[in-house]
Amino acid sequence: LTSLPLLARGKVRDNYAVGDDRILMVASDRISAFDVIMGEPIPGKGALLTQMALWWFEQLKDIVPNHLTGDAPESVVVPGEVAQVQGRSMLVKRLQPIPVEAVVRGYLAGSGWKEYQDSRSVCGVPLPEGLQNASKLPAPIYTPAAKAAVGEHDENITFERTEQMIGPELAAKIRDVSIRLYERAAAIALAKGIIIADTKFEFGLDDAGQLVLMDEVLTPDSSRYWPADSYQEGSNPPSFDKQFLRDWLETAQVDGQPWAKSPPAPALPQ
Ligand code: C5P
Repeated sequence: LTSLPLLARGKVRDNYAVGDDRILMVASDRISAFDVIMGEPIPGKGALLTQMALWWFEQLKDIVPNHLTGDAPESVVVPGEVAQVQGRSMLVKRLQPIPVEAVVRGYLAGSGWKEYQDSRSVCGVPLPEGLQNASKLPAPIYTPAAKAAVGEHDENITFERTEQMIGPELAAKIRDVSIRLYERAAAIALAKGIIIADTKFEFGLDDAGQLVLMDEVLTPDSSRYWPADSYQEGSNPPSFDKQFLRDWLETAQVDGQPWAKSPPAPALPQ
């Protein structure tokens, strides 16, 4: 896009300024994991994930306000650039982002499963003995993470750490809202045969200091989607998301070094 000033080019999304109070978020077809952006895009990915996020925002809007302005993204670009934004963009309010990744887990997977094996807990939340990979948890748990500097991996942190970072009141509100959002979404998905094993929300504050859900929500880029009919505790479920890429990056080697484990992760060949 050339008709709007580029604010930031993220790993998969490009943000453009629309005046000083709105942002046009354009989801590309790029795929990334562990801060590695793959050279090969997935055609249609940006549009598909945008449509999923819009649908989820609608299902969740009575729990917490979200960043959508309700205006059409096409209305803020010149006619020649409409095709570049159509279906793959959101016109959103500019917020003050809160530096906490609000992860909720209903099942043990990924870094949750790794932490559990070491400590029988995740982010300081104690869990019962005897859980396996992919086990359903007795109740969903809130396991926040902190955004890391570019080139490093996000770090799982305790709830108490988030209290120090953003204050106890806001930290508790984000935890409580995130668990409610996850429970609502997980129930909707399960009725359609999909287990949302875990997910990540991001929040910001608006000018009035109100908590607002932002970014994208409940897409396979920010969540683990498992088909319920093949779910089996103790085994790696098929994952309709980017788990395949994480698994590959964790085992792929570059000069004898695992790709995802050698910061800064080397860029992939185009
Ligand atoms: O990798 P981990 O098990 O910590 O991820 C938990 C959940 O949070 C997954 O659904 C993952 O997609 C999501 N997540 C994310 N962005 C991050 C960290 C985790 O979307 N930076």
